[in-house]
Amino acid sequence: MQGDLSSSWRIGPVEVPTRVVLAPMAGVSVQAFRRQGRRYGAGLVCSEMVSCAGVEHRNERTLGYLRVGADERPLAIQLFGSNPPAMAEAARMAEAAGADLVDVNFGCPVRKVTRTGAGASLLDRPRDACRIVEAVARAVAVPVTVKMRRGLADGSRACLAVGPQFVAAGAASLTLHPRSAEQMYTGAADHRLTAELVSLVDVPVVASGDVTSHARARALLHSTGAAAVMVGRAAQGNPWALREILTGERREPAREEVVAELLLFVRETARELGERRATGFVKKFYGWYLGHGRFPKALKSELVRLPTLAEVTDRLLAIAPGAAEALARLEVEVDRGDEVELALPISVYGGG
Ligand SMILES: Cc1cc2nc3c(=O)[nH]c(=O)nc-3n(C[C@H](O)[C@H](O)[C@H](O)COP(=O)(O)O)c2cc1C
Repeated sequence: MQGDLSSSWRIGPVEVPTRVVLAPMAGVSVQAFRRQGRRYGAGLVCSEMVSCAGVEHRNERTLGYLRVGADERPLAIQLFGSNPPAMAEAARMAEAAGADLVDVNFGCPVRKVTRTGAGASLLDRPRDACRIVEAVARAVAVPVTVKMRRGLADGSRACLAVGPQFVAAGAASLTLHPRSAEQMYTGAADHRLTAELVSLVDVPVVASGDVTSHARARALLHSTGAAAVMVGRAAQGNPWALREILTGERREPAREEVVAELLLFVRETARELGERRATGFVKKFYGWYLGHGRFPKALKSELVRLPTLAEVTDRLLAIAPGAAEALARLEVEVDRGDEVELALPISVYGGG
């Protein structure tokens, strides 16, 4: 039954074990975030948007985004760009890196992206957008999906016109975040559009925007006919929200548990990005993990001022000593050989 968030569904041949999808978020969706999302019940996770121009120029940082661990799968790698052949080439590399799906970004509202003719700006140029979908779908054997906003301007209904065209161009699933690009993240996602889109296409539609609880997720599936919900901001530093959204089980984590998850996240991110980059990157996560009334606000301000991750770790273990044991248990769990096909992420450095 579709209302059951714990049931599986498919995008083409790819089986997705639950109807909760972890949203792609630039500056957030690193591998540690995605792996954690899978552990807490997300059936599908997605990389943050990867620039096809960066892939084309073999930009080292961009190529680093094309890393897939076996325990993340199924995983979508999301690409953005405006040039069909470059998007096709980037899609081939994403597939070679192990992506189960290649997602095309027609939703990014940020000017830096839209002024290059990519992201949400393509919703105003459906013919160009369809050429991209066609080129990507021809380039790879894995299913191609599209994530989009409702349109550029407030009140736009462009998604309803272009959605079916994307499907005709080869999209195997559509994700709709029904805010306009102009709206950015203000106002509310208007999921009446999601319901309309569902009625217009015969591929699964994923509903993105303002999913914060099990009750909302169920109601959204019911009212729209979407195949799945996508969770973004609610999952930032809060994997327990994913579990609540999936199962309805509302359990505030113990402080040790929160600190252990944060420390594991910090450790994995340092491995992924390197110590120097990770030190700055993880700062925004402190407030996300330690907020929700879990720890005094002053702790976050204290942590962001510490110059090294070793000092952050020491401070956190001092405030929640039981976290060391919880972290050790977590590390055994995430490294269990029979559950993780590949201990190390596959990198495509030199692979294309
Ligand atoms: C910090 C941040 C970064 C985001 N980056 C991306 C991105 O790279 N690609 C994308 O398709 N959407 C991106 N989004 C949009 C989310 O995937 C999602 O559609 C949106 O946040 C609405 O869902 P929510 O209310 O659950 O957060 C981003 C959102 C946030 C908050």
